Amino acid sequence: MAKTPLTLSRHFLLLAIFSLFLLFPPSIAITVETQALLQFKKQLKDPLNSLETWKEDSKDSPCDFAGISCDSNSRRVIKISLENKSLSGEISPAIAALQSLSSLVLTSNSLTGELPPQLIKCSNLQILNLTENDLKGTIPDLSALTNLQVLDLSQNYFSGRFPDWVGNLTGLSALSLAQNEFDEGEIPENLGKLKNLTFIHLAGSSLIGEIPDSIFGLKSLQTFDFSSNKLSGIFPKAITTLRNLNKIELFSNNFTGELPAELANLTLLREFDISRNQMSGKLPAEIGNLKNLLVFQLYENYFSGEFPQGFGDMQHLAFISIYRNNFTGEFPANIGRFSLLESIDISENGFSGGFPRYLCENKKLQFLLALDNKFSGELPESYAQCKSLERFRISKNGLSGNIASGIWGLPSAKIIDFGDNGFSGGVSSEIGISTGLNQLFLQNNKFTGDLPLDLGKLTQLERLSANNNTFSGKIPSQIRNLKQLSSLHLEQNSLTGSIPPELGECIKLVDLNLASNSLTGDIPSSFAHLSSLNSLNLSRNKLSGLIPVNLCKLKLSSIDFSENQLTGIVPYDLLMMGGDQAFSGNNGLCIDQKFVNQIHSGLGVCNGSHNNKKVIENKLVLVCIIASALIIILAGLLLVSYRNFKHNESYMENDLEGGKEKDPSWKLESFHQKEFDAEEICNLEEENLIGSGSTGKVYRLDLKKSGGTVAVKQIWKGKEVKVLTSEMDILGKIRHRNILKLYACLMRGGSNFLVLEYMANGNLSQALRRQIKGGKPELDWIQRHRIAVGAAKGISYLHHDCSPAVIHRDIKSTNILLDEDYEPKIADFGIAKIAEESSKGLDSSCFAGTHGYIAPELAYSLKVSEKSDVYSFGIVLLELVTGRSPIEPDYGEERDIVYWVSTHLSSQENTIKVLDQRVSGSHEDDMIKILRIAILCTTKLPNLRPNMRDVVKMLVDADPSIFTAIAEKNQDKY
Ligand SMILES: *[C@@H]1O[C@H](CO)[C@@H](O)[C@H](O)[C@H]1NC(C)=O
Ligand SMILES: *[C@@H]1O[C@H](CO)[C@@H](O)[C@H](O)[C@H]1NC(C)=O
Ligand SMILES: *[C@@H]1O[C@H](CO)[C@@H](O)[C@H](O)[C@H]1NC(C)=O
Repeated sequence: MAKTPLTLSRHFLLLAIFSLFLLFPPSIAITVETQALLQFKKQLKDPLNSLETWKEDSKDSPCDFAGISCDSNSRRVIKISLENKSLSGEISPAIAALQSLSSLVLTSNSLTGELPPQLIKCSNLQILNLTENDLKGTIPDLSALTNLQVLDLSQNYFSGRFPDWVGNLTGLSALSLAQNEFDEGEIPENLGKLKNLTFIHLAGSSLIGEIPDSIFGLKSLQTFDFSSNKLSGIFPKAITTLRNLNKIELFSNNFTGELPAELANLTLLREFDISRNQMSGKLPAEIGNLKNLLVFQLYENYFSGEFPQGFGDMQHLAFISIYRNNFTGEFPANIGRFSLLESIDISENGFSGGFPRYLCENKKLQFLLALDNKFSGELPESYAQCKSLERFRISKNGLSGNIASGIWGLPSAKIIDFGDNGFSGGVSSEIGISTGLNQLFLQNNKFTGDLPLDLGKLTQLERLSANNNTFSGKIPSQIRNLKQLSSLHLEQNSLTGSIPPELGECIKLVDLNLASNSLTGDIPSSFAHLSSLNSLNLSRNKLSGLIPVNLCKLKLSSIDFSENQLTGIVPYDLLMMGGDQAFSGNNGLCIDQKFVNQIHSGLGVCNGSHNNKKVIENKLVLVCIIASALIIILAGLLLVSYRNFKHNESYMENDLEGGKEKDPSWKLESFHQKEFDAEEICNLEEENLIGSGSTGKVYRLDLKKSGGTVAVKQIWKGKEVKVLTSEMDILGKIRHRNILKLYACLMRGGSNFLVLEYMANGNLSQALRRQIKGGKPELDWIQRHRIAVGAAKGISYLHHDCSPAVIHRDIKSTNILLDEDYEPKIADFGIAKIAEESSKGLDSSCFAGTHGYIAPELAYSLKVSEKSDVYSFGIVLLELVTGRSPIEPDYGEERDIVYWVSTHLSSQENTIKVLDQRVSGSHEDDMIKILRIAILCTTKLPNLRPNMRDVVKMLVDADPSIFTAIAEKNQDKY
C-alpha cells in the first residue's frame, strides 16, 4: 500500500520534469536559433562588421545580436532588420529554423543568389522586405505564408514569370515587386483578391495589356503605381472609383484617351503622374478642384487646350511638370500665389500672353522652366525676390523690354537662361550676386551696353553665351577669374578694344567664339595655354599682327581667323588644322611656298619677304585659271566615270533593296575643311581593310589629292542606314579632341561611306593586350590613366556640352580609339541617340549595346539615360585597372567583371589582387583610386552613379603624374 503513493509521486515528478521541458524548452530553442543565425551570418560578407556582436558566447544570444529582436516572454527571434549594411553573399536557408520570425527586413544591401524556398517554414512571417538587393532567379511560391502583410521584393534581378500566386496572399496590405526582370506578361486577374491592399507598387515589371477590372475592386488602395511598364488601352475611368487613392503613378506606359472629369472625385489625391503616355484632349476644368494636389505631372503627352484655372487656387501644389504637350492660351495667372510652389516646368507648349507673376510668391521656387512657349511682354519684376531659384529658364519666348536689375542677382541660381527672346537694355552689375551660376544664356536678344565687370565674380561659370546681341565696349579682363569656363560665345556683338590676354587663364575653355565684333590688336599668345581648346573662332574682327606660332600646340578641331587684318605667315600646323579657308580675307597673310597647289582662298604665297604682293597676285590669277581649267576637265572625267559607276551600282542595289530609293546623285556632306572626292572614297581596296564590325567594314585610305590618311567606313546596307542619316548632321558637328572626327559622309541610295579620322594605334581593347619588348604591356599605368581622363572628357562633352545631349549607348574599349600619341577618341556613333529624342520613344528594341557593358537597368528597359553610358565607362575603367575583359570564364557562369571585382573588396590585401600586376608596381594607391571611381560608375542604381562631369573631376584628381604635369606646364612658357 505504501508503494503506490511513492510510485505515483515518482511518476508525477518525472512527468512534471518532462512536461516542464516540453513547455519551456528555452535553452534548446535558443541554441537552435543562435546556430541558425550564425549559419546565416556565415553565408554573408560583412565588410563593415555590422554583425560583430553575433557570437555564440554573447551574454544573451541571440537576443543581443545587432539587428535582432526577440519576443520578451518566449525569447524567440521575431525580427531581423539589417538595412543598408553593405552586406553581400547569399541568404542562408538556415533562417527557416526561426519559427517565430515575423519580420525579415534586409533592404539596401548587395545580397545575391536566389531566395531560399525554405522561407515558407517561417509561417509567422508578416513582413518580408528585401528591396534593393541583387537577388535573382524565380521567386519561390510563398503563398503558404498566409500571415504575410507586407511583401517587398522590388529592385532586385528576379526573373521568370510574374508570380501569380501572390493573388492568394489575401492578408497583404502592401505589395511591391517593382523593378525586377520578369518576363513580359499581363497583370494577373487574381490580384483582385487582395482586398486589404492599400499599397501596390508594380513599376518596371514588364507588364503588358490593359489593367484588369478586378484591380479596380481594391477599394482600400491608397497608392497605385504601375509606372514604367507597357500597359495600354484607354485611360481607365474605373480608377476614379478608388476613393482612398492619394497617389497615382502611371507614367511611361502606352495609355491613350483623355482624362475623365470624374478624376475630381478622388478628393484625397496628392500625387498624380501620367507623363510619357499617348494621352490627348483637353484637361477637364474639374481637375482644378483637386484641393489636396501636391504633385501634378503629365509631361510628354498630346494634351491640348487651356490649363484649368482651378490650379491657381490650390494650396498644396508644389510640383508641376507638363512640358512637351500642346497646351495653349494664357497660363492661369494665380498659380503659385497660394501654395508653396517648388518646381514648375511648362516648357515646349504654346502658352501665350503675359508671363505668370506669382510662381515664386511664397519664396520656395527652385526650378522655373518655361522654355519654348509664346509668352510676351516684360518679365515681372517680382522674380527679383526669388532668392531660392536655382534654374531660371525662359528662353525661346517672345519676351521683351528691360530686365529689372534685381532679377540678375539670384544667389541660388545655377542656370539663368534668357536666350532667344526680344529683351533689351543692359545686364545689371547685380549679376555679381549670382555667384553659384554655372550657365548664363543671353544669346539672340537685343541686349546693349557693356559686359559688366562683375561677371568676374561668377567663378563657377561654365558656359556664357551672349552672342547675337548689341553688347559694346571691351571684354572685361576680370574674365580671367572664370576658371571653370568651358564655353564662351560673344560673337555677333559690337565689342571693341583688344582681346584681353587674361582670357588665356581660363584654362578649361573648350569652345571660344569672338567672331563678328570690332576687336582690334593682336591675337594673345596666351591662348597657347588653353590646352583643352577645341574650337576657336576670331573671324570678322579687326585683329592685326602676326599669328602667334605657339598656337600650334593646340589640338584644334575647328579654327577660323578669316576676315581680319592679320599679317605674316600662317603657321604650318594651324594651316593643317584649319585649312586655308580659315585664314582667308586677311590681306597680309601668306602661305608657305610648299602649299601653293592647295590654295583655294586667295591667300598669297610667302616669298621670303612678302612685299611683292602684286607678283603673287598675278601668279595667283594664273593659278586660278589653270585650276579652273583642270576642274572643268576633271569634272568631265568624273561625270563619265560616275555614270559607269552608277550603272554598276544601281543594278546591285536593285537586287538588294528592291529598286527603291533611286536618288541619282551622290550626296557628299563635308563637316571639316578637308577635301575629298567621291571617286577616291568609293574605290576602296580590300588589301587596305583594317577592321570589320557590326555596322560595316573599315578601310585605310591614303588620300592622293590632299595628302594624309583617313579611315573610310562602308556601312552595311539595310536598316542601320536610316538611323545613320538622321543623325549624321548632328554627329558631323560634334567637335572635340577626344571624339573621333567625322570628316565627311558620302551617300547615295543605300550606299554609305563615312570618312573618319585615321587612328594609328587602333582601339583600346587591342592596345591593352599588346606587349612590347620583354613581355611588358604596351600601356603603362600613366598612359592608362591619361586614356581614362581623355575618354571621360569625350563622353562628358557628349552628355553635357552637346545640345541636345548625345547618349552614346555603346561605350566599350573597342570603341575608344588611340591616335599616334595614344590620345583616346570615342568612336562609333552607330547607335548613338540624341538624348531628348530617345526619351520620347523609349523603345527597347532600338537599344543595342554590348554584352558585359550594358547597365543593369536596361535589362528591364527603364529609361536609357546618360547614366547607362556612365556604367559602360565604369566597365572600361575596370578593364584599365585589372587588365581583364568584361566577361571571362573564370568569373563564373553569367558573372561579369563587376561581380568578380565585388568579391575582392573585403580587405585591402584582397583588393590589390584585382589590379593588373604587370603595371601596378608603385602605382597601387593610384590604381585603387581609379578602381573606386569604377565601382561608383557601375553602381546598380543609376541615380547613385556620378555624372561624367564628376567622373572627369575625380579622374583628374587621381592623376598619378601630377608632378610631370606641372613640369610640362612650366615648359609652356617657352
Ligand atoms: C521596405 O523597406 C524600405 C526601406 O526601409 C521602405 O522604404 C519600404 O517602404 C518598405 N516597403 C514596404 C512595402 O513597406
Ligand atoms: C490559390 O489558392 C487556390 C485555393 O486555395 C488554389 O486552388 C490555387 O491553386 C492557388 N493559386 C496559386 C497560384 O497558388
Ligand atoms: C483585412 O484587414 C482587416 C482589418 O485590419 C482584418 O480584420 C482582416 O482580417 C484582414 N483580412 C485578411 C484576409 O487578412
